[in-house]
Amino acid sequence: MAIRKIITYPQDEETLRKVSKPVTEFDDRLAVLLADLKDTMHHAQGAGLSAIQVGVLKRVCVVDVGKRHLEFINPKIIKQSGVNRIKEEGCLSVPNVWEIVKRPNKITVEFYDRNGVFHTENYSGYEAKAICHECDHMDGILFIDRVEKK
Ligand code: NI
Repeated sequence: MAIRKIITYPQDEETLRKVSKPVTEFDDRLAVLLADLKDTMHHAQGAGLSAIQVGVLKRVCVVDVGKRHLEFINPKIIKQSGVNRIKEEGCLSVPNVWEIVKRPNKITVEFYDRNGVFHTENYSGYEAKAICHECDHMDGILFIDRVEKK
C-alpha cells in the first residue's frame, strides 16, 4: 500500500480529460490499486478518488463520505432521481475550488467488486453525490463543468 501522487487541474488537464478503460482482470494489481486509492484518499482527506486522478486510466474508484468505505469497478449509473444541491462540492484534483453542483439524490448503480462479482445497489444523499462525481472522472468530466450558471 502506498500514497500516490494526485494529478491536478489545470496542469494535468490532458490526462484528467481522458476516458478511462473498463477493468477486465480482477487480479492482485487491481487489489493494490484499490488499496492505494484508499490510502491516498484518506491521506488527502477526500470523500472519493478515481484511478484517473493518480494517472491510472481504469474505471475504478473509492468513496468514503464518513459512513463506510465503498469500491466501484466499471460502475454505471442506471437510474437516478431527485435533486441534491445540499453541499458544496470539491475535488482533490481541483484544489481550493468549492461550488454547488446539482446532483441526483437517489441513484442505482451497477458495478463489479474487486472479486469480479456483479452488483446492483442503491445510494442516496452525499454518497450518491460522491459516486456521481467519481463516475464523471472516468469519462473525463470535472465537477467545475457542471456548476450551474448564476
Ligand atoms: Ni474529483
